Amino acid sequence: MSHKIQTLSGYIHEYQKSVLQPEVFWAQIGESFHWKKRWDKVLEWDFEGPDVKWFLNGKLNITENILDRHLFIMGDRPAIVWEPNEPDEEGVTLTYKELYAKVCQFSNAMKAQGVGKGDRVIIYMPMVPEAAIAMLACARIGAVHSVVFAGFSSSSLADRVNDCEAKMVLTSDGNFRGAKKIDVKGVVDEALENTSTVEKVIVYQRTGADIAMKAGRDIWWHDAIQGQSEECPAEVMDAEDMLFILYTSGSTGKPKGVVHTCGGYMVYSYYSFLNVFQYTPGDVYWCTADVGWITGHSYIVYGPLLAGATTVMFEGVPTYPHAGRFWEIVDKYQVNQFYTAPTAIRALQAHGLEPLEPYSLDSLKVIGSVGEPINEEAWHWYHDHVGKGNCPLVDTWWQTETGGIMISALAGVTPNKPAHAGLPLPGVQPVIVDADGNELKSNNVQGNLCVKFPWPGILRTTYGDHERCKQTYFSTYKGMYFTGDGAKRDHDGYLRILGRVDDVINVSGHRMGTAEVENAINEHPKVVESAVVGYPHEVKGQGIYAYVICDMEGRTEESLKNEIRQTVNKIIGPIAKPDKVQIVPGLPKTRSGKIMRRILRKVASGESDQLGDTSTLLNPEVVEAIIEGAVKD
Ligand code: WTA
Repeated sequence: MSHKIQTLSGYIHEYQKSVLQPEVFWAQIGESFHWKKRWDKVLEWDFEGPDVKWFLNGKLNITENILDRHLFIMGDRPAIVWEPNEPDEEGVTLTYKELYAKVCQFSNAMKAQGVGKGDRVIIYMPMVPEAAIAMLACARIGAVHSVVFAGFSSSSLADRVNDCEAKMVLTSDGNFRGAKKIDVKGVVDEALENTSTVEKVIVYQRTGADIAMKAGRDIWWHDAIQGQSEECPAEVMDAEDMLFILYTSGSTGKPKGVVHTCGGYMVYSYYSFLNVFQYTPGDVYWCTADVGWITGHSYIVYGPLLAGATTVMFEGVPTYPHAGRFWEIVDKYQVNQFYTAPTAIRALQAHGLEPLEPYSLDSLKVIGSVGEPINEEAWHWYHDHVGKGNCPLVDTWWQTETGGIMISALAGVTPNKPAHAGLPLPGVQPVIVDADGNELKSNNVQGNLCVKFPWPGILRTTYGDHERCKQTYFSTYKGMYFTGDGAKRDHDGYLRILGRVDDVINVSGHRMGTAEVENAINEHPKVVESAVVGYPHEVKGQGIYAYVICDMEGRTEESLKNEIRQTVNKIIGPIAKPDKVQIVPGLPKTRSGKIMRRILRKVASGESDQLGDTSTLLNPEVVEAIIEGAVKD
């Protein structure tokens, strides 16, 4: 039975069923998969713990549902189509049969290097098919993967290795990104100097860079698979066994490891993919994310492959070697569904329409957006010039923690409105609450976005620290999952996401915690104190603005600012580098010593004429100095 909803009344019917009889609803979707043993119970939950379990005692392996199951009827259909960074380098297409063989072979290679069920494996790789193969091979043998975006610094990588006590790292010699050739293995080597759990490193050769291989620890990918069988039995996993950990930033402390499990994530990533993108067998689907983020997990690898789709993987960047690169790829592979981020749209919009002219884009049926609110101007540009006015644009709201898309139009099935994520997917019960946690039930309301009932893709815990999971997501509003986002329900009942209401900044669709950036800045020996806020940025959505109190002795202001940026680059990675740094004599504080971020946000946004009440400040005089020295564009 297909679970693809095809009409608006079908959506309403399914939605109602999912609310009135959630267990019946999800059991029907769960039944379309291959289980080694069927579940005893569909759902057990308690948001206080929190303790959420789906498909209890069900046994499965997600890769059997991706690979083995698809071999008979569509083994020769392309599973992964890979487009390299350079347009004139030849791409790679892997059919489901070929992917099966490669995943099994690499599974055996990992086993031979001592990795087994429950072990944690860090994947720090460029966008090559081997990154997906690595993820699936982990899943095949029951190892828990944790993909770390290959733009993170060695110290970010070391933190993640240490937090999950990884036994193995999968990486590459280097990475091609646009005009740059990036060192990858060197970063791993540096990171591993500060870790003690990693026994083996498998290195995929991509750039041919001259790298050091540490005897006894490092092994080339091509050597590791030598002589390994292309068959590997799939480990029996419990529905609630961990599938992966993915680190993401929050408002406090270091990034936390969001945990997803085998059964629920499988069902949810598949169901949401199929319905939001309205995938039809034979379509070519392309998501431009990186596998280092949740979008890459759910909508490059797991969701599409569970649906038997052809998923395109692109190694490069939107503007290399020219600003028409995305459109060139759409035409080349006749892409039918295209999924990208508003920041990429805005960056391309800035190049005008000329780069689009050589391409027809006629194959497109659905276009999608993810990662941050899409402003109306970008929405219209994307809709009119890429979708040519006749492709539904799905604005998909979700999070690392939700595992899959939660609020979005189903392409061409449910209506969409510019800049509105729209209606919830079946099985998702979003609520808008006021500051006291009262549900605002009517239309035309605004408040904080929560979800009051579990869905199969919800995070189960934060790795090694369940209390943190509870505090972050389940304590603000009793009995609800709190998203950290603000939202508005308009007069028609459509939801519009307003952005984060906590101390998280969304830079080009990447989540950064202000505390995390501040901690990095404070590592600089001349820094006394710092405060970081987000401000509206034309292309990135939000930029990072840092206010820093420094000891200036022996430095010019410019040199110090550069050093601060470099410090952040070194500690977190280039994506966290502040766009603006202002050296200040002090930070506005309340009498109890708390930084008044509200004021700093206003100044950073160029709204210093709207500071509101500053009379409760301990040090009102610094505000004048801050306004005077504010960094303009
Ligand atoms: C934001 C990315 C508005 C939001 C899948 C959320 C969005 C955070 C949208 C999660 C959207 C994501 N409209 N905002 N369509 N999609 N966000 O974990 O603030 O990297 O909380 O997951 O991105 O980011 P994450």
